[in-house]
Amino acid sequence: MTITRKDFPDNFTFGVATSSYQIEGAAHEDGRGPSIWDTFCREPGRILDGTNGDVACDHYHRWPDDLDLIRSLGADAYRFSVAWPRIQADGQGPVNPKGLDFYERLVDGMLERGLKPYATLYHWDLPQALQDVGGWVNRDTAFRFAEYARIVAERLGDRVASYATLNEPWCSSLLSYQLGEHAPGLRDRRLALAAAHGLLLGHGEAIAAMRDVVHSAQLGIVLNLQPAYPASERPEDITAARFADGTFNRWFLDPILRAEYPADIWEAYGEDVPEVQPADLARIAQPIDFMGVNYYSRSVNGAGGNVRPPESSYTHMGWEVYPQGLTDLLVRLKEDYANLPPLLITENGAAYPDEPLGKRVQDPERVRYLQLHLEAVVQALRQGVDVRGYFAWSLMDNFEWAYGYSRRFGLVYVDYATQERILKDSARWYRDLLTGQAQAAPLP
Ligand code: FCB
Repeated sequence: MTITRKDFPDNFTFGVATSSYQIEGAAHEDGRGPSIWDTFCREPGRILDGTNGDVACDHYHRWPDDLDLIRSLGADAYRFSVAWPRIQADGQGPVNPKGLDFYERLVDGMLERGLKPYATLYHWDLPQALQDVGGWVNRDTAFRFAEYARIVAERLGDRVASYATLNEPWCSSLLSYQLGEHAPGLRDRRLALAAAHGLLLGHGEAIAAMRDVVHSAQLGIVLNLQPAYPASERPEDITAARFADGTFNRWFLDPILRAEYPADIWEAYGEDVPEVQPADLARIAQPIDFMGVNYYSRSVNGAGGNVRPPESSYTHMGWEVYPQGLTDLLVRLKEDYANLPPLLITENGAAYPDEPLGKRVQDPERVRYLQLHLEAVVQALRQGVDVRGYFAWSLMDNFEWAYGYSRRFGLVYVDYATQERILKDSARWYRDLLTGQAQAAPLP
């Protein structure tokens, strides 16, 4: 199948995505306070190549050129995130005017270029001062987050088309507080589940705070969802897949869309479950205008652990390329959740070890990945799933968290020594798709 823009509804939004800590740099400028990622990166052994986000893609200074670049790709929209420590250095208290000014210029810059701003309020860079008093485990952080959300929404208002509260709360709780792979790098399941609850509550409180402030802007949340398949039809493998789905997907979907935690997983977690106050779930489950889905891969679960199908291909992250999982996931969301709001694919993409040859970067595997996943979205649309947009992760190569700069997800190559941006073939392919040129088939 060769996809073209005509396979998508007329008002379908295409964009590219980034996040603040991964691209901005300027870590100590204009009153930005330290975040948990500044701290984490300085702990030996945390980041594969020992790097940090101090400079990253220097987007804080190069944003006008970067917005021109996004425009040149034919994108309708740009998904970016706001760094909380730029707005309030300590996560509470005085507002830093220079921080708000930066995002206002950025948003106005998008509007001048005909790009719709899609903001995410929390893409993991928690102010360190809040971590010092417990981070998301401390219930008060949820209320500090809502206050910060209101401050941003009051300033940027309906110039922003869409506000997502959180990016991937599974990552900022379980991956960060139980598996220890992301900041703050703890290894405690009880704390991780308390953090997840704090994040969900913060989401609900932030939606409520922003509802009072904006009118046309769409409000929602972004989850990373990973469909879980059993390795075989054996009952123990089916049980393993159900558990993986429950901990990874339903633990976040059910509170937001059904005002309840999944009973099977609640029971399995035993004494580690979070303390939930009576009004919390209603607060978490208030109506949202969209749900953002970040999709990269699936899991294949056996009773003895995860399985890697040998016939599949894998990205530089070691993630299986499995586009059918995206169709299955989207259809399943529609079937399982009566209250499902319209969906956006807020991230999808792949890392490969790209090398420039002069001014060209050939990345046929990424082109293939994008093509197959866009086809998977078309399949879901044909099955009646209400998907409103697609954002490629990422605009450009950037600081890939625990992998530092060693994994490249960009459509645009970044030479970190010179900060030069070079369009990869995938960027050209995406541009041709978006601008309706014939070139939607994979490049040779
Ligand atoms: C997602 C994150 C994003 C990026 C991609 C590869 O989990 O939201 O920042 O790191 O993975």
